[in-house]
Amino acid sequence: MVIQWYPGHMAKAKREVSEQLKKVDVVFELVDARIPYSSRNPMIDDVIKQKPRVVILNKKDMSNLKEMEKWKDFFVEKGYYPVAVDAKHGKNLKQVEAAAIKATKEKFEREKAKGLKPRAIRAMIVGIPNVGKSTLINKLANRTIAQTGNKPGVTKQQQWIKVGKLLQLLDTPGILWPKFEDEEVGKKLSLTGAIKDSIVHLDEVAIYGLNFLIAHDLERLQQHYKIDVNADAETLEWFDAIGRKRGLLRKGNEVDYEAVIELLINDMRNAKIGTYCFDIVQDMSEELSHDSNN
Ligand code: G4P
Repeated sequence: MVIQWYPGHMAKAKREVSEQLKKVDVVFELVDARIPYSSRNPMIDDVIKQKPRVVILNKKDMSNLKEMEKWKDFFVEKGYYPVAVDAKHGKNLKQVEAAAIKATKEKFEREKAKGLKPRAIRAMIVGIPNVGKSTLINKLANRTIAQTGNKPGVTKQQQWIKVGKLLQLLDTPGILWPKFEDEEVGKKLSLTGAIKDSIVHLDEVAIYGLNFLIAHDLERLQQHYKIDVNADAETLEWFDAIGRKRGLLRKGNEVDYEAVIELLINDMRNAKIGTYCFDIVQDMSEELSHDSNN
């Protein structure tokens, strides 16, 4: 579902999620493993505050392992408990409960010292649309609970789902808005299918993706489209080569650039060329140094 975010919606979503957070011991901040930083809500630290946090990098099957590890280190440094999962295929899900136990250890030790009885750890999932919140809830619950297309914020009637031995998860996720002020982030969100096509310029998204591939995985790009274009060639040369090879032509034998753009974007969104992490820690040091928690 496409959600249009207006200031009123954002304030309401933040308020609703903040309210739900009072019920839980730990928050699962869900991000897309292909853009672990760009797929975060811009005010997430303001929403979650000091609550113990497990950062779940979902869709790990479509990302780059090495780069994901660097992001995990980044989150560890912030005092969070990162885990990388593939919710769609049910991979690594046991780690979620293990991370929740670690994240809440101190809290439960304090409760025990006060003489409180042991109880289940309560958690909720929070994240921007399309990072896989519903998929993860359904997998953790082992049945279909969360429907895709929830409203922003959190929906009203909620229940606890038992996950493993020690965990209870709220069955409705908190939905917050994506970062949409930064153009580069917008392109990354589009490349991973997190935002709808009409609010970004698809030609810019395709060019951004193409340049990423030229810089990071040239050989595979050339092999995938069976073309032999140089890294320093103009974008149009690439588009022409791809279009001709794939027969994406208009009348008069001209390359149909719109079709090439669509092909490139779909191939990247569906990890057809390769599996990539578009947020590269090393290239983002400037941005990360301004991160609110540093
Ligand atoms: P949301 O609640 O956060 O909005 O996200 P949702 O679960 O609806 O998931 C969004 C899309 O991401 C879905 O694809 C879902 O299948 C896919 N997805 C979720 N987790 C993973 C994962 O770990 N790996 C991969 N590869 N994909 C994942 P869709 O195209 O909308 O639906 P469908 O093609 O699965 O039917």
